[in-house]
Amino acid sequence: MIDVRDLWKSFNGFGVLKGINLQMAPGTTTVVLGGSGSGKTVLMKHIMGLFKPDKGEVIVDGENVSVMSRQELAIFRQRMGMVFQNAALFDSMTVGDNVAFPLREHTKMSEDEIGAKVKEKLAVVDLFDVEQKFPAELSGGMRKRVGLARAIIRDPKIVLYDEPTTGLDPLTTESVDQMIIGARKKLGVTSVVISHDIGSAFHIADHIAMLHHGVIVEQGTPAQLRNSKEPHTQEFLATWFARQ
Ligand SMILES: Nc1ncnc2c1ncn2[C@@H]1O[C@H](COP(=O)(O)OP(=O)(O)OP(=O)(O)O)[C@@H](O)[C@H]1O
Ligand SMILES: [Mg+2]
Repeated sequence: MIDVRDLWKSFNGFGVLKGINLQMAPGTTTVVLGGSGSGKTVLMKHIMGLFKPDKGEVIVDGENVSVMSRQELAIFRQRMGMVFQNAALFDSMTVGDNVAFPLREHTKMSEDEIGAKVKEKLAVVDLFDVEQKFPAELSGGMRKRVGLARAIIRDPKIVLYDEPTTGLDPLTTESVDQMIIGARKKLGVTSVVISHDIGSAFHIADHIAMLHHGVIVEQGTPAQLRNSKEPHTQEFLATWFARQ
């Protein structure tokens, strides 16, 4: 369970998060939707413990992330996988070495064990026999999937995705959506997806929170949000409905 409680954060006197309350249940996918600059990434960084709130707290499985020391955070983050917007792979390393990286950094596993784990996680994202390839040899969608394989290599309970489908074509978006759905089904992870992609949100979310200027103006199931009467939500959805 991720429990964000009355979270406030400002930078240089500018309020970015203004009293966020949000609960994310185990094994569900929550999408935080909002326009550019609404505070999505800042919220996510609080969940990872990268930022300390001015007020309020983030509680994960009963532990207060917001007051953890560096060492406590390092241990805590083992439970968390992070998929960055640009996949953030090391271009000079093979796919296999990229995915194995967290294991080589943080564990004493043998190379045989590491090889087996890498194969297992690549299979979760439907990639086979790509260990020897370099990121540049893969498509954008495949790189995203390699990023997820790396994020789940240490069996996290929580996976955070920052804008996983931004800038992707519709087919690749569909494959990334399937990957997120698949990771939840196969691994039972709690997923938090930061996005401004409404189509994807409707597809993958159990729960959607609408963030507007640092405030959650509405939250609910995709079906509830589709029929929203809340003005900011309606405005945000209108552009998307117009394209359908
Ligand atoms: N480290 C920081 N120092 C100062 N201001 C920051 C910092 N990080 C974010 N901000 C400010 O917080 C606001 C929200 O930023 P954030 O990155 O959360 O937006 P976002 O919703 O993720 O937008 P996008 O969809 O463009 O990624 C912005 O005004 C940004 O300039
Ligand atoms: Mg962002």
